[in-house]
Amino acid sequence: MQEHDKQLIAEAALAYIKPNMTLGLGTGSTTRYFIEVLGKAVAGGLKIEAVATSVETERQAKQLGIPLRELAEVAQLDLVIDGIDQIDDHFQVIKGGGGALFREKIVALQGREVLYLADRSKFVRRLTGPLPVEVEPFARSSIEQLLQDKGISYTLRKTGETPFVTDGGHSILDVVLDRVPDVAHFVRELKSWHGVVETGYFERQPDHVLTIEHENVKLLAHPVLRNGGGLV
Ligand code: A5P
Repeated sequence: MQEHDKQLIAEAALAYIKPNMTLGLGTGSTTRYFIEVLGKAVAGGLKIEAVATSVETERQAKQLGIPLRELAEVAQLDLVIDGIDQIDDHFQVIKGGGGALFREKIVALQGREVLYLADRSKFVRRLTGPLPVEVEPFARSSIEQLLQDKGISYTLRKTGETPFVTDGGHSILDVVLDRVPDVAHFVRELKSWHGVVETGYFERQPDHVLTIEHENVKLLAHPVLRNGGGLV
């Protein structure tokens, strides 16, 4: 059901792609469905170009013939499309379940508009995490100690028996938020710790979220739209 919803949302997202746009392409299973749909549109003649947020997305886009650019080559991204792990009532977002948070965040910051694709399982009253925290492996033990000192639980993300490695060569600690009353405040503190590269709390909130309810795809606008809602 969730996969079906992700597919329907991804298909509906194509309606927001206009010719000659430069897109930011996220990472994860929902975005993978979107890239499939986009690839078919490009094969059918749609002219766009895109910046990929991960090696995985880059590989898929290349296979489908989607023209790719480096972020440094583009002045701005017209629209960033990505998935999310959690979103609360205030459009606070956690991402990084797929481990691509660092590039995803940089790309989101370059987006004139950000559209996230989220099935209903992603909506929460309050962000509960886990919050992915990308860390430099050399500093991992000192960061773990700081978390332990604060009584905050976490797990080291693994692929099988070995620590997961991000595209940037870092590790990820998935941090439990049940003892964290203010995620934004906690993230500011985390970012001051040496060796913390990035967190999955996205300060750049989405302008819109595309979701689905009883087979009906719905576009939700940020409660305080920053750009006048250019999508619609
Ligand atoms: C990738 O690092 C993540 O930010 C994903 O976008 C997020 O985990 C959502 O993934 P799914 O679309 O697979 O649920």
